[in-house]
Amino acid sequence: MSTHKQDHAQWSSSFGFVLAAVGSAVGLGNIWKFPYMVGESGGSAFVIAYLFCIALVGFPVLVAEWLIGRRGQKNPVNTFTDVAASEGKSSTWGIVGATGILGGFLILSFYSVIGGWALNYITKIGSGSFIGQNSESVGATFDAMLASAGTLTIWHTVFMALTALIVGIGVTRGIEMTAKILMPLLGLILFIIVGYNVVNGGFGEAVAYLFTPDLSKLTGSVMLAALGHAFFTLSIGMGIMIAYGSYLGREVNLLKTARTVVILDTVIALAAGLAIFPIIFSHGLDPSSGPGLIFVSLPIAFGSMTAGTIIGTLFFLLITFAALTSSISLLEPTVEFLEERTSMSRTVSTISASIVIWLLGVAALLSFNLWADFTIMGNGIFDALDKVTSKFLLPLTGLAGIIFFGWKMDQTAIQRELNLSGGTWQLWQIVVKFIAPIAIVAVFIATLMG
Ligand code: PFF
Repeated sequence: MSTHKQDHAQWSSSFGFVLAAVGSAVGLGNIWKFPYMVGESGGSAFVIAYLFCIALVGFPVLVAEWLIGRRGQKNPVNTFTDVAASEGKSSTWGIVGATGILGGFLILSFYSVIGGWALNYITKIGSGSFIGQNSESVGATFDAMLASAGTLTIWHTVFMALTALIVGIGVTRGIEMTAKILMPLLGLILFIIVGYNVVNGGFGEAVAYLFTPDLSKLTGSVMLAALGHAFFTLSIGMGIMIAYGSYLGREVNLLKTARTVVILDTVIALAAGLAIFPIIFSHGLDPSSGPGLIFVSLPIAFGSMTAGTIIGTLFFLLITFAALTSSISLLEPTVEFLEERTSMSRTVSTISASIVIWLLGVAALLSFNLWADFTIMGNGIFDALDKVTSKFLLPLTGLAGIIFFGWKMDQTAIQRELNLSGGTWQLWQIVVKFIAPIAIVAVFIATLMG
């Protein structure tokens, strides 16, 4: 195994690493995507499938990616190739790293568009635009934003530029440290909104909608959506956690760290659900209205609550921040790859990758307006990018990763590294070798059978 590049530093402490991992995991996936996917998939069926996927597939894949990353100490492609070689396996496993990088690259293009929406809403709420507005006018404001290709492009550009700047200068570490304060604050505001909802109605209905098991709605496509989202929300199946693992010191306990990350990520997503659905129900909005869900519901609450302008502005500011700590993690593997595999410097790698991603993002945002009629197999460009990544690239990359981890790597060394014994180790082996891969394959088969 060759050595690290000089600038391939390690996290100063396991706490720094937890912050970085949480920073990557918690983002628009929790606050923007999770609620609207719940709404589109009929509520509790999605929530239940999602919780199962997180526990039985997401958790082991997360641990596997960190462990592989820590062994390989490089970008995901070289890591997979090297680790495969050291286990006496074929170097074609490097492809798993490559599909991962591709996934992150594609996701960032549309992620940045939504990051732009959040940025735009900081200014809208901050200027008091939503005070005293009703659900129709809040909806109209959102529709007007979507209809304007210029507005969307400006904010997408700002978001992408911020991401590139942070990655290019390499101040990722500073950002993660700031997250120490901002993440808890985001959690706090979410809970303030949940509290507001308890008083203002719709809360019981939302709890029933999210948590009353209704297995009749648990179809193959709901399960695939939940599986894909489990990967998306934990930032797995795309090389990011492998890249982060490559900076990880040996003393970090992977299982405990993964547990912390998974719990925090899930709690924030569920809190976002409880912040949004009561408003949807008490104002007669449509839960299945898609990606605009948080933008047409939360401003109604901010427009009528005490100090709503301040709380709302802060909320969208914090979401943007959470989105940035995720987007830098989406850009990092591509940059790391270009930097280590070509002669380009970090700055040039960052700028070139960002320009291509930005262009793809522009194509994605045009699908909300000028190119609305252009579809690829029935999906606009934005939806196509989302579906290809979440429903195929991530789960399949994760499947290959977990098969490699469970079947191709030396299990005794892994057992020592994870410090597991007896029944716990056996349980771990059953999950990694059978439950997780079979669950992924089963979900694909269920979807194909429709
Ligand atoms: N996990 C982030 C979120 O939930 O917003 C999004 C994300 C970051 C997805 C990094 C994928 C990724 F590799």
